[in-house]
Amino acid sequence: MRKGILSLTAAAAVLALGLTACGGNSGPTSSTSSASSSQKAGKIGVILPDSKSSARWETADRKYLEEAFKAAGVAYDIQNAQNDKTAFQTIADQMITNGATVLMIVNLDSGTGKTVIDKAKSQGVATIDYDRLTLGGGAAYYVSFDNTKVGTLQGEGLVKCLTDKKASKPIIAELNGSPTDNNATLFKAGYDGVLKPKYDSGDFVKGPDQSVPDWDNTQAGTIFEQMLTSAPKIAGVLAANDGLGNAAITVLKKNNLNGKVPVTGQDATVQGLQNILVGDQCMTVYKAVKKEADAASKLAVALAKGEKPTASGSVKDPQSGQDVPAELMDPQAIYLDNVKDVVADGYVTKAELCTGDFAAKCTEAGIQ
Ligand code: BGC
Repeated sequence: MRKGILSLTAAAAVLALGLTACGGNSGPTSSTSSASSSQKAGKIGVILPDSKSSARWETADRKYLEEAFKAAGVAYDIQNAQNDKTAFQTIADQMITNGATVLMIVNLDSGTGKTVIDKAKSQGVATIDYDRLTLGGGAAYYVSFDNTKVGTLQGEGLVKCLTDKKASKPIIAELNGSPTDNNATLFKAGYDGVLKPKYDSGDFVKGPDQSVPDWDNTQAGTIFEQMLTSAPKIAGVLAANDGLGNAAITVLKKNNLNGKVPVTGQDATVQGLQNILVGDQCMTVYKAVKKEADAASKLAVALAKGEKPTASGSVKDPQSGQDVPAELMDPQAIYLDNVKDVVADGYVTKAELCTGDFAAKCTEAGIQ
């Protein structure tokens, strides 16, 4: 079959790339490695989405994927599309030309994701949707978290934070993720599942509800500023990740409302955790990215070796109606009292988190 021919081509390309990996077009956000010549596995290409919508992609995903590929001794090339859909497709083309036999993508939207997956498949390259499902894309595997549960934890978090504050009929603002990210849809389904009954019963009052294109933190600030102008009594903010949460907190600070209005988040970023330590953010959702990266790299390495790995579960692609073999990890809610769990898990270090004025807060929070 084609596959045999391809892996030979791939092996040749891996050798050729080994000579050029450190040169020219790699750029600061790409990392490549060639396997030792005794390895027969193909090469794994990974495309990360950007480095601004969340710190995780560069600080966690890249690190853990790289560690896993190195440990398995496979050749890999991890690049970041920096939120550029054209660059995303060019990177994919180059990876395939350079001998990738497995392509793992975090799409920037389902349309361009599908174009990339279609092309990869037509060339016999195995495909994995990493973290974000490409709707209608038909990737061979999907590895992520239970994203509806992430949203449920955020909704429950906001309810808990408002209950702790004894808020009465609080007006809630919802700052949603990118409308082109299927995860943002799932997060919203999760938190609206918790909030809607509260709106319906009159316990909470539904306020402004808006999506942030590309999860752009700067736009999130502008959007939240407008929200607060239109509804000055906003008393709780469901922000879909730590970056959006921080954008809202910055606006709240200008209005002396930080700490008074609970804000949620996601990703357990250093900034989000610091916002929790000082009381400006009420909670975040920790996703142990190491587990996600390990599950994805296990599949990728097996595919690169020409095996046909089986996934433990599946998700239904709502667009194609097809079941996609999937591995979904479990998210965890983080409040002030368990910020220490994230440090204990090695996701952030005490040195990064407990800088300057945060040191005393870290001690109070039992971070060792
Ligand atoms: C990821 C989140 C991340 C967001 C913005 C989502 O698809 O699941 O962890 O915060 O994208 O990058």
